[in-house]
Amino acid sequence: MPDWGNLLAQDASRMVEALRSFPEQIERALGLACRVPNNLQGFKNVVVLGMGGSAIAGDLLARFSTVPVVTVRDYELPTWVNSDTLLIAISYSGETEETLSAFREGLRRTRRAVALTTGGALAALCEERDIPWVPVPPGFQPRAALAFLLFPLLGCLSRLGYVRDDPARVAAALRGLRDACVPEHQANPAQDVAQTLFGRIPVIYGAGITVPVAYRWKTQINENAKQPAYWAELPELCHNEIVGYELAGKVFAQGIVLFLRSSFDHPRVARRVEILKEVLSSRGLAFREVWGQGETALAQALWLLYFGDWVSFYLALLNGVDPTPVRPIQELKKRLKETAGSG
Ligand code: PA5
Repeated sequence: MPDWGNLLAQDASRMVEALRSFPEQIERALGLACRVPNNLQGFKNVVVLGMGGSAIAGDLLARFSTVPVVTVRDYELPTWVNSDTLLIAISYSGETEETLSAFREGLRRTRRAVALTTGGALAALCEERDIPWVPVPPGFQPRAALAFLLFPLLGCLSRLGYVRDDPARVAAALRGLRDACVPEHQANPAQDVAQTLFGRIPVIYGAGITVPVAYRWKTQINENAKQPAYWAELPELCHNEIVGYELAGKVFAQGIVLFLRSSFDHPRVARRVEILKEVLSSRGLAFREVWGQGETALAQALWLLYFGDWVSFYLALLNGVDPTPVRPIQELKKRLKETAGSG
């Protein structure tokens, strides 16, 4: 067994503290829901603008909202965005150029708009245009601030009757998982899954409510553990990716499929997973399953997401890296800034 006590020294920037307090952050974040004004009502669809760790909130919102929600990760908006659209800009730093560009364009088409940010150019733009914005606490990595980027919106849409499960019940459901996954809990389930993934290339599969969660696992493994990871969704992958298994044993021997499972999986998806497991086994390809826990679909999705955050944290420690820094992202943003306005 790895010496987790020693490996914890890799976490120089203390990502563990942000992870540990996730359930309490959710409770605090629900308190911010009242900062999203009610007078935005009357919208027919919601467009969430964001990138990376900020955008995932939009994907999750889309799965649990009863009004159409689309996440836009781009400089430009779809043509159909109009005055019936509620525009939500999410940028932890408030400085993300794609989000700012799309938000500026959106404000020319609708007056229903709100932003979530710690400040920066996004907050300044909101102040200038008299657009409400929800202040998100500073001091986190964007991906570690998910509670504050998602739950004010879930709370607000829930108040308007647009969320299918009660977001107020999620935090309690996650406390048990936290207690099971903290480093003080020796040989814990997140460490176990991290050990299974160590030295391999994870391919995370989700379906329905776990689709955004599978993507979050992939990005958390990328950013925390600093290694490649991929994802795909069922049932779609049964129509293409499955063919790639034919030669995977030769060219992707390090691959491992991880199925994110939920009791809310469509029965035909559940059947597909069973068949896929047989196909993977027959080709000598590795796989593992993780089942979400909780009474509601929202609770199970967040359970799996939080578990994945812990797994990526422990995988970072096994990889010998500090989970927090994301130097390649910062370097790229810096280089783009140097050429701002030139193209
Ligand atoms: O995880 C990260 O740091 C990134 O994915 C950022 O979230 C992304 O670059 C967008 O930045 P921001 O969340 O500040 O808008």
